[in-house]
Amino acid sequence: MINIDLRSDTVTKPTKEMLKAMYEAELGDDDLDGDPTTIKLQEMASSLIGKEESLLVSSGSMGNLVSALSQVKPNETMIIGNKSHMSWSTEQGNGHPTYGQIDLNFLNETNGLFDLNDINNSLNSKSKQVKLVCIENTHNADNGIPIRYEYIKDLSDICNKSNSNLHIDGARIFNAASALNISVDKLVDKAQSVSFCLSKGLACPIGSIISGSKEFIYEARKQRKIIGGVMRQTGIISAAGIVALKTMPDRMIEDHITAKNLANGLAQIKGININPENVHTNIVFFSTNNMDIDELQQKLDSNGIRCFNLNGRIRMVTHYEINLENIDTALNIISKIMN
Ligand SMILES: Cc1ncc(COP(=O)(O)O)c(C=O)c1O
Repeated sequence: MINIDLRSDTVTKPTKEMLKAMYEAELGDDDLDGDPTTIKLQEMASSLIGKEESLLVSSGSMGNLVSALSQVKPNETMIIGNKSHMSWSTEQGNGHPTYGQIDLNFLNETNGLFDLNDINNSLNSKSKQVKLVCIENTHNADNGIPIRYEYIKDLSDICNKSNSNLHIDGARIFNAASALNISVDKLVDKAQSVSFCLSKGLACPIGSIISGSKEFIYEARKQRKIIGGVMRQTGIISAAGIVALKTMPDRMIEDHITAKNLANGLAQIKGININPENVHTNIVFFSTNNMDIDELQQKLDSNGIRCFNLNGRIRMVTHYEINLENIDTALNIISKIMN
């Protein structure tokens, strides 16, 4: 029975080493005294990311929300990309104000980037002060593109002039750093806050980390508590995180190779639209000429190839449970369906 799950890197299950570490983890009440294993994970994350302090949160969405609430007060303005996951979060529930009273300014993104003139205009023309500009690296909806350091630096210079902070939704920041061949701390050094997911390509079952200054994390702890994000014997989660930070970042490149192979193979199949040049990390999007995307996705599903239809395109995401043999199998099945 074929089961090749390319829906997301979130489907990854913890490795044996993670499960062992979770079983053996030293535990404490994270809210009362601090959980010793979580303290260790947070220290490790801070040193890897190059920020003063870090905090474990339950998910990427919570990481972004807590980061926003910690830096933007009611009626102050935050800029987010129109295709970003944060924009999706804020629009969930038919306008439900997940982000409270924050004034949200959605800016267009092309290949994961704001036009710097647009940013300049927004920062200067708004009557309310923009407190936070958020970018996503890698940019999920824009073909998983990694955002280059030089761009982040230019953006941060503009933000600094207007006293606005920069937040990086780095759910897949280790993919970005690997694809750009840059250390992760350098890649995020211009941002005041960073969020990254343990539960995506890093393969942990649960958890994200936010990092920034001591003052930011002090405020983030309060915000996490208010929104119900305190967990107790978090060492169970953190033990997997520690293994992930030791073992996973160096292998991100393997997921990019499988994704590139998938993209190159798809480009050979008649009726599929994809430019493999656009695939830089572990996310592959494609469309079709004649076949309905829903129909294709359902046919793939019934043949054991799992993927998502996102806004009229198929998205496939590679991860540590997908090897080159799986890619060949998937390509054979896609080819048969398309012919
Ligand atoms: C770029 C990005 N940020 C944040 C999230 C949210 O992560 P979570 O599902 O852990 O809340 C996702 C989830 O796919 C994402 O792709």
